[in-house]
Amino acid sequence: MSTINRTGTFTLGDRTVKRLGYGAMQLAGPGVFGPPKDTDAAVAVLREAVASGVNHIDTSDFYGPHITNQLIRKALHPYRDDLVIVTKIGARRDSDGSWLEAFSPEELTQGVHDNLRNLGLDVLDVVNLRSMLGVHGPAEGSLEAPLSVLAELQRKGLVRHIGLSNVTPAQIEAGRRIAEIVCVQNHYNLAHRTDDALIDDLAIKGIAYVPFFPLGGFSPLQSSILSDVAQRLGATAMQVALAWLLRRAPNILLIPGTSSVAHLRENLAVAELDLPEDAVAALEGIEAHADTA
Ligand SMILES: NC(=O)c1ccc[n+]([C@@H]2O[C@H](COP(=O)([O-])OP(=O)(O)OC[C@H]3O[C@@H](n4cnc5c(N)ncnc54)[C@H](OP(=O)(O)O)[C@@H]3O)[C@@H](O)[C@H]2O)c1
Repeated sequence: MSTINRTGTFTLGDRTVKRLGYGAMQLAGPGVFGPPKDTDAAVAVLREAVASGVNHIDTSDFYGPHITNQLIRKALHPYRDDLVIVTKIGARRDSDGSWLEAFSPEELTQGVHDNLRNLGLDVLDVVNLRSMLGVHGPAEGSLEAPLSVLAELQRKGLVRHIGLSNVTPAQIEAGRRIAEIVCVQNHYNLAHRTDDALIDDLAIKGIAYVPFFPLGGFSPLQSSILSDVAQRLGATAMQVALAWLLRRAPNILLIPGTSSVAHLRENLAVAELDLPEDAVAALEGIEAHADTA
């Protein structure tokens, strides 16, 4: 039985979520495109997550596309009252799986309706506007037009809360003048710490910071410092990476992704891992050795 309650909770919009959640992107096929090899295995991961107490799942209708949301619906609908599904709009896939911007009012509105239909919901709890001004990392530029469209969809009652993804501090500040921003989802992990100052600033403002690629994403974290600490603590490198994030700031919500029940169990067991001070100090050395580009 998982003990994920040990990691505490955070208020996301008007809902309380556990700090240890699950990211569903890895459930689609290779390259987050098309169906998984084994649909039953994907369904089993989702059911295991919720049975273990996870009440925060991150997704998007452009994963697959449509596939990941359809898997969530198949596995978990009707949803538990405490489950918060966070999705994102702003991108689309073409026929070969490329990730393209979808910022027109029609595309954004369609994105919300696609999420509603494929998840089987009447209203979406939280929708992140995913900036595609830069595909691989935040790039400055105005998000006023797409965010205003999302705010209008919120006023119509299709969306409860709004977040931003792949954004700069300036875009968050500008965004907060258009809509209440309840979460920011950016690339961050032990080796990629561009957002250090931003995380602390958002913590003061009560805004959740949800790191994507917490384990390194498509290139899982590899570091001798990380392996040494993990060995010393009798944990795995991935568990140490997650434990460090949980300790890094109280507004960090974890959504590690996996397509495997065994990895899911391993990741959720991080709730029982307390990092001693000397381990934290050693882990601080990782970024200095990492390619943080
Ligand atoms: N907003 C954005 O632009 C954006 C971008 C990317 C992702 N996301 C969200 O963030 C979530 C997390 O990111 P992510 O899934 O891409 O990356 P991640 O959580 O950093 O890492 C996932 C990778 O690590 C592997 N893994 C997971 N647990 C493991 C374990 N215990 N031991 C060894 N390997 C393990 C997975 O493989 P297995 O399947 O084999 O376990 C997968 O290859 C996604 O699910 C998605 O919801 C958002």
